[in-house]
Amino acid sequence: MRRELHPRKRFSGQITVPGDKSIAHRAALLSILSAGSLAVKNYPRSEDCLSSLGAAEALGVKVGSSGQQLELTPPEKLRLPDDGTVNCGNSATTARLLSGIIAGSSLTVTLTGDDSLSPRPMDRVIEPLTSMGAELFAEDGHLPVRIVGRRLMPMEYQLPVASAQVKSALLLAGLASSCSVTVREPVITRDHTERMIQFLKGDITVREVKPVMVPDPVDPRKKRMHSPESFKMEITLASGARLTGGLIDIPGDFSTAAYFMAGAAIGHGTVTIENVGLNPTRVEFLEYLKAAGCRVDITDRRTESDEPRGTITVARDKGPLKSRKISGEITARLIDEIPALAVVAAFAEGTTVVRDAGELRIKESNRLESIAENLRLMGIKCGVLEDGLVIEGGKEPSGADFKSFGDHRIAMAFSVASCFLVGPSSIDDASVVNISCPEFYEILGRVTA
Ligand code: S3P
Repeated sequence: MRRELHPRKRFSGQITVPGDKSIAHRAALLSILSAGSLAVKNYPRSEDCLSSLGAAEALGVKVGSSGQQLELTPPEKLRLPDDGTVNCGNSATTARLLSGIIAGSSLTVTLTGDDSLSPRPMDRVIEPLTSMGAELFAEDGHLPVRIVGRRLMPMEYQLPVASAQVKSALLLAGLASSCSVTVREPVITRDHTERMIQFLKGDITVREVKPVMVPDPVDPRKKRMHSPESFKMEITLASGARLTGGLIDIPGDFSTAAYFMAGAAIGHGTVTIENVGLNPTRVEFLEYLKAAGCRVDITDRRTESDEPRGTITVARDKGPLKSRKISGEITARLIDEIPALAVVAAFAEGTTVVRDAGELRIKESNRLESIAENLRLMGIKCGVLEDGLVIEGGKEPSGADFKSFGDHRIAMAFSVASCFLVGPSSIDDASVVNISCPEFYEILGRVTA
């Protein structure tokens, strides 16, 4: 569905965004393994989250609703899905986390996905789950994956790639098979799985390795920071950990909110988003906006279901947007916000450099290439590096016929950009926003005029 997009005069307003996609996936998938029912508030209607709900249902979870809440009742015993297959649609989080659950069960299930999910790497979960004792069969490490669940062996694993999905797959495998799992993270990733297991009274411990001051080997009169371990976070799930039921209240999705924050930044506007997730592993984009010259205020901070949340206001009063170099852990912490960041960079003074973002090549599209192609259509110079982007901010980028590349984050980022371009624009397939936010254009309409 092609959508025409027009320049807007104003980008300001007060909004809410749908529930956090990452947290919703975990609520649906943990309901498969919990001992009691989960009530879930603010479960999003996005296609990805419906894939996880469908997977839970296929394995025997009873999905009901009461008022605005979902009621997820776990089965006495996991059910073999029809045809022995679960379709994960477009959702890599569903496919990777569910792999862990099936690997630790006594079922044999084949996971499939759509044309965009099928080429994405599954070997990152296949390899460690195989070491735990499950059997996983896939051609070239891609979906479809046939998983033969087994009683798994305890696992200690240091993540070779910064991936919350891999970490979560192993923790869910441990829960499903009642065996202990220790995951070590050299780069800290989003911690929603750990928080939800803790909230549902599962026996899990999290240890952060803090750097210490040591004498500098070159000049012992000086001191320098040194990490005593090769990892920063160690997460241990105890053997036999069990989950209770409970009420999970999902905050608004920070990654969806980021597009509207980007709009305020570019358009000299003020956007307030209520009840947004403020999990420290997710909010790095706020630091980027502050460094770019925006004012960021957070009010009404509170924590529900072990997930912090609050009201974010992003405003840009005056002065040009500043560009910046981002790399290393900073990039990992805002990996899903890079499309929004790239659009802000297009309107900033100077050159923005993004490094250590090679993971973007294997998201819903090759995001390095998709971003670069759309920026160039706007008349912005953009170089693609092996692991990043070099974006030369332009004064008056022009309207363009953007391509979504089947990627919801690309469609949302360039739809926001279109509000500030000279002349009309279009996006070739606007319906792709349904993957994470079917309400996107309605919310965009509310903050623009
Ligand atoms: C997610 C983790 C991230 C992120 C994805 C959602 C999750 O992927 O990019 O959108 O919910 O665990 P990786 O874990 O592959 O880095």
